Amino acid sequence: MLDDEKLLKYCLQHSTDTGLLLQDLERHTNLRTLNPQMLSGPFQGMLLKMLSQMIRPRRILEIGTFTGYSAICLAQGLESNGQLHTIEADDEVASIATEYFRRAGLEQKITLHLGDAASVVPALDEIFDLIFLDAGKMDYARHYHLAYPKLRPGGFLLADNVLWSGKVVRDEKDATAQALRAFNTMIQNDDRVENLLLPLRDGLMLARKRDDIVPRPGNGP
Ligand SMILES: C[S@@+](CC[C@H](N)C(=O)[O-])C[C@H]1O[C@@H](n2cnc3c(N)ncnc32)[C@H](O)[C@@H]1O
Repeated sequence: MLDDEKLLKYCLQHSTDTGLLLQDLERHTNLRTLNPQMLSGPFQGMLLKMLSQMIRPRRILEIGTFTGYSAICLAQGLESNGQLHTIEADDEVASIATEYFRRAGLEQKITLHLGDAASVVPALDEIFDLIFLDAGKMDYARHYHLAYPKLRPGGFLLADNVLWSGKVVRDEKDATAQALRAFNTMIQNDDRVENLLLPLRDGLMLARKRDDIVPRPGNGP
């Protein structure tokens, strides 16, 4: 988490900018939505784009589209025949996302599912190389359990806002902070993944599904 505004500004000045379309989407989101701070923004957007470009995923799943900023960033790293599935429950913000996917020329690469992730994820007949959890923070654990079987061994799962403005260590009573503490502990204790909690922006959990898991006796064919 970069609390120091000057330092964040300096970092942004020494990072490639995200381009005119995403700047326009950020402006549009600020003008037309009630909670524009939910948008990833240029710093995290560039990180998501770079991680995706490193992984070169064939399939990406995003839970929580909002106005489409992070989906556009993640889609930049897709393999040429790759697809990103993104899920959003709110049709108003989803319509902004759809417009910007079209303007980004990504309408063939991005499928937006309108609905509750809890029903959409189990119905997806895909295995993903990269999953981005960014919907309701109280639901992270539930979404993780639903998404985990859809992640390929060796694939990566990212979860945003896991430090909740530092409240995971500072505020005992905040209900969202409690849910995120439980989520972070669950990931830390999950032997099926190796994980890294990055103190970047609002905290980004990176988890890699192990590909060296030996099936327990009785679990395999
Ligand atoms: C933090 S915003 C996503 C921000 C976006 N990923 C970005 O970086 O620009 C979370 C979004 O998740 C949506 N959401 C919350 N709970 C959901 C659920 N159960 N299923 C689908 N979408 C949900 C909200 O409507 C909201 O638009």
